[in-house]
Amino acid sequence: MPGLLGLEDPLRFNNPVAPCAVVIFGANGDLTKRKLMPALYRLAYERRLPAGFAVVGVSRTAMTDDAFREKMRESVARFLEDSPFDEELWRSFAQGLFYQSGDIGDSSLYAGLSQRLEQIARQRSTAGNVLFYLSTSPSQYAPAVEGLGAAHLHRREGAWRRVIIEKPFGHDQSSARELNDRVRSVLDEQAIYRIDHYLGKETVQNILAFRFGNGIFEPLWNRRYVNHVQVTAAESIGVEGRGGYYQEAGALRDMIQNHLLQVLATIAMEPPAEYAAEAVRDERAKLLKSIQRIRPEDVPRVAVKGQYGPARIGGEPLPGFREEPGVDPLSQTDTYAALTLEVDNWRWAGVPFYIRTGKRLPKRVTDIAIEFNRAPLAVFGDAGGGHWPNLLVIRIQPEEGISLRFSSKVPGAGMNLRPVMMDFNYGTSFGARTPTAYETLLLDALEGDATLYTRQDMVEASWAVVQPVLDAWSETKFDLPNYAAGSWGPASSDDMLAARGHVWRVP
Ligand code: BG6
Repeated sequence: MPGLLGLEDPLRFNNPVAPCAVVIFGANGDLTKRKLMPALYRLAYERRLPAGFAVVGVSRTAMTDDAFREKMRESVARFLEDSPFDEELWRSFAQGLFYQSGDIGDSSLYAGLSQRLEQIARQRSTAGNVLFYLSTSPSQYAPAVEGLGAAHLHRREGAWRRVIIEKPFGHDQSSARELNDRVRSVLDEQAIYRIDHYLGKETVQNILAFRFGNGIFEPLWNRRYVNHVQVTAAESIGVEGRGGYYQEAGALRDMIQNHLLQVLATIAMEPPAEYAAEAVRDERAKLLKSIQRIRPEDVPRVAVKGQYGPARIGGEPLPGFREEPGVDPLSQTDTYAALTLEVDNWRWAGVPFYIRTGKRLPKRVTDIAIEFNRAPLAVFGDAGGGHWPNLLVIRIQPEEGISLRFSSKVPGAGMNLRPVMMDFNYGTSFGARTPTAYETLLLDALEGDATLYTRQDMVEASWAVVQPVLDAWSETKFDLPNYAAGSWGPASSDDMLAARGHVWRVP
């Protein structure tokens, strides 16, 4: 189809997806409503999906196809971010939506699903290709894969079968290994797509373009020039009705073990030989394995645990974590976690990487700040801007961009310097809508591209980073809550950086 300039749109048709069906286990859950179905609809809107396409929702609740379609219509219309809801397109998309109820532990579910998929393959010409998406509670991941295996749904002659597994992959190092063993007893590694949606974020992918598509940054990207790195993922929301899940997880497991360690790996990894799944994943894995193991006796020095207490903001009372529904009033769960990590390789030895995340912080912002060493000599004396080392900030969300702080002469007499910013902003530069992480990752899995999915060695390496902290925390009783909702976290987090002469930036 000709584009605006009469040319073929290179993005739209570069990698056509083969006909296929997507089966979502956990179709009644929040992720399906908020993220997966809006992403699939948006891909249909972009004409990225093949003519032969279908979605089968699976969950325990009994429902007809039509009831499922109506439910999904409401969700898509409500949760579609920055795009129009087109009734006509929905009607044709909805014809490809089906629903199958059943229990993941019950073999009759898979027998029914198998029949249904055969029928749908004929009716919708999906060619027998199937992407299974496990968006259930984590305890169901292994039983679902085993159920698929027992019913021979995991393989089919002349077609592909793939399985996306949502996070969390394991609750700790040993359960992650056990889950992997069970999944691998059924599936080949090439069929497993372990999702970490942060890797699908446009701004996270752009870190690789920024680092390896430019000649001037990489020479500075090492211990000689970088003083330290700060990764911040702040959320202003609380646990939003997920108190039960969150109480078992906590911030370290929920955000750092997966999302933020993957971001760190993207910032710090070596250049891959080519932009291909194994080459990129090898480098990410190598970096994660190079993170210095935290010794139990060092945990109090390099890890901070926080939990928010109640506060009043603008006259409005905000509950503390322990007052949230489903949360134990004596809960020791971390709603804030910060770590100081070091990477034991030639590029990074001795450079601290500070990572923090928390709920009920003053605003929603995720960014990475790379602070460079100061100029070796203060030629301009006190007015010389020596207090302001160069700072590169990669803004992941909500505002997306990159800025570089440097010193500039203040106009007028004398030689006074002041920090100024050089700014890149996605919106202004490209003016195009950014696809959501789930759109990108679903499309990649449909195309068979695992570059932005994690591999078992990456998952295990990142559990190895956080496990000593989890172990030490489980044996210590903390005086919680230790920060007020709406503040930047516990004072001990500032102390952790101060011990090395650093300060958390206010993003
Ligand atoms: C999820 C966590 O994986 O990521 C949530 O379970 C968190 O607790 C969310 O809110 C953050 O994702 P995003 O894309 O909004 O930054």
